[in-house]
Amino acid sequence: MTKNLSQKITIGATLAASLLMAAPAVAAGDAKKGAEVYEGTCIACHGGSGKGEIEGVPDFTSTKGPLAMKADDVLLDHITNGYESPNSMLAMPELGGNEDLTEQDVEDVLAYLRATFEPKK
Ligand code: HEC
Repeated sequence: MTKNLSQKITIGATLAASLLMAAPAVAAGDAKKGAEVYEGTCIACHGGSGKGEIEGVPDFTSTKGPLAMKADDVLLDHITNGYESPNSMLAMPELGGNEDLTEQDVEDVLAYLRATFEPKK
């Protein structure tokens, strides 16, 4: 009986530890570092104003734009894996076409987008 109980406690502790390990490995984005990512990779299409430099690029500052309408997990996925909306004239390339970007860079650049271009509600 006592042995059983201590086994249960051990299992409980192991479970709790593995749940903690399952927490996101990547820290929340750093907008300052994200600015460098943006200027190095994204600005060519999305522009310094975030409104889009070329036809087919969404306006980040619009209240109907992706920053206003979509959650972080969706946007992180679309930045990482690329994205093409229905009837799109141009697709967003995976990692903005820069395969050197890390998962952390993507978190950082999204933090930058939110801090810089997100429309005020
Ligand atoms: C070659 C041009 C190009 C580059 C470089 C580029 N994008 Fe895009 N991006 C696009 C286009 C085009 C779309 C719209 C795609 C669509 O709606 O079909 C888009 C869409 C997006 C969206 C909205 C996605 C959604 O779910 O609506 C985000 C966020 C985004 N880009 C972030 C970035 C970031 C961050 C970078 C730099 C790492 C980057 N883009 C680099 C062209 C580009």
